[in-house]
Amino acid sequence: MNLARLIADMPKAELHLHIEGTLEPELMMQLASRNQVTLPYATVEDIRQAYEFNCLQDFLDVYYLGMSVLLKREDFFDLAWAYLEKMAAQNVTHVEVFFDPQGHTSRGVSFDTVLSGLTDAFDKARRDFGISSKLIMCFLRHLSEEEAFDTLEHACSCKSHIHGVGLDSSENGHPPSKFRRVFAEARDQGFTPVAHAGEEGPPSYVTEALDELHIERIDHGNRALEDPALVKRIADSGMAMTVCPLSNKRLQVVPDLADHPLRLMLNAGICATVNSDDPSYFGGYVNDNYLAVADALGLTHAEIVQLGRNSFIGSFMNDADKRAAVAHFDDFVDKAN
Ligand code: HPA
Ligand code: ZN
Repeated sequence: MNLARLIADMPKAELHLHIEGTLEPELMMQLASRNQVTLPYATVEDIRQAYEFNCLQDFLDVYYLGMSVLLKREDFFDLAWAYLEKMAAQNVTHVEVFFDPQGHTSRGVSFDTVLSGLTDAFDKARRDFGISSKLIMCFLRHLSEEEAFDTLEHACSCKSHIHGVGLDSSENGHPPSKFRRVFAEARDQGFTPVAHAGEEGPPSYVTEALDELHIERIDHGNRALEDPALVKRIADSGMAMTVCPLSNKRLQVVPDLADHPLRLMLNAGICATVNSDDPSYFGGYVNDNYLAVADALGLTHAEIVQLGRNSFIGSFMNDADKRAAVAHFDDFVDKAN
């Protein structure tokens, strides 16, 4: 089987995806018009032209502006449904999806509006496509601890819909330790903790996320590779890292995809996975990420299979579901050989 076919056809999970980052320019224009929101763009082409980023903050400015068109329950449904239809077509069978409630509540959109629109779509995807999902609520790290606590309080009233808590937005200057107490409370309340760390921030932010937030998965983690003891620690723990190649390229975390450390991560024994982060803004959904990085690094059949398998191993499925998903994946690979 050629590698493009393998990537397209293999069952896979996506573990690092911001639902607001799936807002395609066409839907952005449509929702702006439906909700009478004025955008600083006249056309879809204008929007695409704004997607030139030198760093994470450049992207975040455009990302927060884009989400201003999301106001009603059906907007959140339409957003998530468009993503899920694409995932069905890409043979994605399980998704663990971030959402940024503070990006909406700060604009007067209620937490319930956001969550109900999203869960409408994820429930329908399970029924229509057999795609399973878990939602991870992120705290915006450029905001205060107090605002994060307020957001956590909302999540506590709808625990059955939210599996985990994460940490995203502007990394430098906002170390994980700023949210130590919020994460302690979130863990006490039963939420699974994850955090973006080592995307732009130093390796010490990854260590802090492990030691102070007690995270169970590392989002990005690229800069952990600068610290060999940390690499060994991550590999020995078996903890997954959610790597996002096209995001890394577009945000200049790597100068070129050919320099991407994905193979180094695998060779170091890290449970690395491939994900799209914000596919509308970074030029590709999950299969595009596999293809681009496989091309740039010359990944082998065995490495692609390892990455696909890791996507289930590194997921937060319960043990029985994970065993079944991995068995189904292995069966696919056996038959494809
Ligand atoms: N990093 C930090 N915050 C984010 C990202 C990211 O890649 N995407 C959406 N919010
Ligand atoms: Zn991210």
